[in-house]
Amino acid sequence: MQNSKLFAAIDIGTTKVFTVIGKKAGDGRVEILGHGLAPCSGVHKGVVEDVAATQSAVRSSVSMAERSSGATVDTAFVGISGTGISYEKRVDTIDWVGEHGVITARDVEQVPQSIVRNGVNGSHRGRKTIHAIPQSYSIDGKIGVHDPMGMHTRKIDVETHLVEGSEAEIGKLKKAVEGIGIKVESLVLEALASSESVLTEEDKVRGAAMIDIGGGTTDVMVFKDGAMNYSTVIPIGGFQFTNDICVVYNTPYEAAEAAKLAHASVRADSVRIHEQITLPITSGNTLTKVSLHELCQLTRERANELMRLIVLKLREGGVIDLKGYRVVLTGGASRLSGFMELFQLGTSANVRMGAPFGYLGVPMELQAPAYSTGAGMLIWAAHQEDDEPKPHAIGQSEERQSQHKKSTEKVRKGGILSLFRR
Ligand SMILES: Nc1ncnc2c1ncn2[C@@H]1O[C@H](COP(=O)(O)OP(=O)(O)OP(=O)(O)O)[C@@H](O)[C@H]1O
Ligand SMILES: [Mg+2]
Repeated sequence: MQNSKLFAAIDIGTTKVFTVIGKKAGDGRVEILGHGLAPCSGVHKGVVEDVAATQSAVRSSVSMAERSSGATVDTAFVGISGTGISYEKRVDTIDWVGEHGVITARDVEQVPQSIVRNGVNGSHRGRKTIHAIPQSYSIDGKIGVHDPMGMHTRKIDVETHLVEGSEAEIGKLKKAVEGIGIKVESLVLEALASSESVLTEEDKVRGAAMIDIGGGTTDVMVFKDGAMNYSTVIPIGGFQFTNDICVVYNTPYEAAEAAKLAHASVRADSVRIHEQITLPITSGNTLTKVSLHELCQLTRERANELMRLIVLKLREGGVIDLKGYRVVLTGGASRLSGFMELFQLGTSANVRMGAPFGYLGVPMELQAPAYSTGAGMLIWAAHQEDDEPKPHAIGQSEERQSQHKKSTEKVRKGGILSLFRR
């Protein structure tokens, strides 16, 4: 039934809530049917702090996505991030595989779910398991097997990367969604979702680092030999770049954000040395003149610091030399002028920008790094459906479907989306 292939994903970010609705098309790709975007003030560094404010942003974003797709959202995949996320390596023995003599694709797909469901219980520590991501398998003494499909055995050891979150933080996140009557189908680690969106399978095999620089956090995820082998969250994002401008020039956040988006660059030499802008002074009616050269120097210092932190974290994760890796920068703040080049120069890595690709029906305004997480969650959702048929996630009424084209047009022309177009 066509409706069973509709999914909704809600990316609750530090600056915005982005809802996207899609379905799996006949060719296996994900088709985007509608989306909604709302500014959010309830999230701090990727973690829900003000449930009511977040709930209200989720409501606006979901309503908009419903209008533009003609679908009604009853359940959704929801993104999770923040420094409360922890990672742990673990090995489990699985003895229910190979029922028909060989390990099937279905066996492999069901291993992570079975570990999350049966093998782990972190709730006594106030932690909850979100994912178990397989790293490699050991079969009959052969270690480091990456693809066990088709191998003859009845028992395997699987090494997984467990992703855990704080129960309290997960509780607030779920409340922000379930409080408006939407069931959380599954939580999805945001870095994993962004990686689905911007990395190819070849990237993951050869070695790639996905770096999602958002408003409040920088999510890092590394892949090698086709498997995720390191992930971390750095509590720095676009907010800090803006905040530096607020503090140094004593100017309100909104004015600093506007100045950053319009003028900031890590290339201090790209602006004429005497060029100036005016900024309002906090709690006063006066204006101050700011040298663009100085503003860009300030930005460059913060960008250098962020780059050093990313490199340090990657080293901690075993990536000593980035030369052999493909680095993909995504997230809204990765668009900072000159940042990609700075990263390229500073690390000698092969760096590129990442935005959602490989989908059907992606409107132009969604082909931007800020939407990688939400779009990636739809791919994740489609994989889940492959594993196990699920009850209908969302229904699509004929009447709403007929409004689809009209509403989408409206959203594309303006609405909240235009506020975020960069
Ligand atoms: N052209 C640009 N130059 C510099 N910064 C930018 C640009 N465009 C967007 N940003 C910054 O990107 C950030 C928002 O990015 P994004 O939408 O990915 O964050 P988020 O998903 O809400 O937050 P997070 O993922 O950290 O929880 C803001 O800080 C914004 O100022
Ligand atoms: Mg984000």
